[in-house]
Amino acid sequence: MASASVAKTPAPPPADFKNDPLLAGEHTLPASWWTSEKIYDLEKRAIFNQSWLFCTHSSRFAKAGDYFSYTIAGINFFIIKSKVDGSLKAFHNVCRHRAYPVIRKEEGSSIVVGCKYHGWSYNTDGKLTKAPHFDNVEGFDKDENSLYPVKLHVTPQGLVFVNFSNEPDCVEFDDWYQGLSAEMEEFDFSDYEYHMSYELDGQFNWKTLMDGYQECYHCPTAHPGLSTAFKMETYQVIPKGRYCRHYAEIVREKVEIPEDDKDADEESSWFGLGKKKKVEKPVEKPVEKKVNPGGDFNGLWVYLFPNSGVNCYSPAWYSIRVLPITATHTILHYDIYTKKGLPETEKKEFVDFLQLVELEDFNLCQLTQKNLNEGIYSTGYLHPNKERGVVFYQNLVADMVKTHFAKEQAAGKPINPAFVGHAAKNPNVMELEGICSTLECGSGSGEKTLDW
Ligand code: FES
Ligand SMILES: [Fe+2]
Repeated sequence: MASASVAKTPAPPPADFKNDPLLAGEHTLPASWWTSEKIYDLEKRAIFNQSWLFCTHSSRFAKAGDYFSYTIAGINFFIIKSKVDGSLKAFHNVCRHRAYPVIRKEEGSSIVVGCKYHGWSYNTDGKLTKAPHFDNVEGFDKDENSLYPVKLHVTPQGLVFVNFSNEPDCVEFDDWYQGLSAEMEEFDFSDYEYHMSYELDGQFNWKTLMDGYQECYHCPTAHPGLSTAFKMETYQVIPKGRYCRHYAEIVREKVEIPEDDKDADEESSWFGLGKKKKVEKPVEKPVEKKVNPGGDFNGLWVYLFPNSGVNCYSPAWYSIRVLPITATHTILHYDIYTKKGLPETEKKEFVDFLQLVELEDFNLCQLTQKNLNEGIYSTGYLHPNKERGVVFYQNLVADMVKTHFAKEQAAGKPINPAFVGHAAKNPNVMELEGICSTLECGSGSGEKTLDW
């Protein structure tokens, strides 16, 4: 495995977890939380609009003006490399004039962000630099019409996160993901480069995917290929500070692939970690064997609450971002970064295997959601150890939703932490906004009326 060495050795799971007693399991959240649009609207305000959300890696921004646009849970924004100091900046993709999107492409490069509606222009720091015919308009101040900024954090390894919250009590990144930055030091991200992205369009709730992502209880039945390459009995999901680390020991000796699974794995050796090998004839029972060296690297896989994961292997690392569109429609977005200098054949092997495993998960989600939509099933028993990660993240979801719901009930109206329009100082606008609030139309957030 010459091309797949990794600079650092991943930490083993904490030993004391093995001694945890098998306490009574918990139940899943009710199925209505996977189907209700009103719950999804509340999740946007309670979770997505005030959580740190993983976006990308800083290596994708090579020069000043390079940008990528994103939509997460209905909020459009973009990240751009500043010409002023070379840092990354994030802004809502909303022109301050009449709200047209200032960026129309998924990615590009420009040191001038020009709105194609009436021609306002902004620089890479979001400052309004040109507003045609406004120069002599009394009271108009360019400095008060910069793009709305979005909070952004880059970890020492280059992992880029945003947070839409405009609330004074917004949790700082290092308090949100306590210990994450230090833990990611185990992997040398600087030795990898962007390779490709792809998306899957799912008819399911965002949590349907997270449920499967947060456990490997399903792996022996649903991922036969995966189960031959890792020692499934060593698989552990350990909750940490709003993230979870997944651990498993890779199988170091040659791996036997059951005859039944041969087709599925035909094109890819295990994550590109080794070359497939035909065994010298045991004639009666032909068995295909692969070298599955894995080196000294068992992987560094983390779930990042609420909706993302970063999974590092020797030949490549990839991110998954689970992007809700509605309560029952979700886009899965994958970005793959391969080791610098990795041969094309090994890149293809990694991508093929990744796509096979992810498709197996995708199909589980499609059929599970159909039954959640039926209105028959409500909740199920979770295994206290095997599904510890599911319990952990669903509890976080429930806690954030319950806390925010209580706040809204006390206020008597929806509270959208991402709302930035409070900046409008014009008394007429404030009066008109007050009428809307009274009618519970959501303070410009586009949220639906709550039926209290
Ligand atoms: S909406 Fe952008 S210039 Fe008018
Ligand atoms: Fe899976």
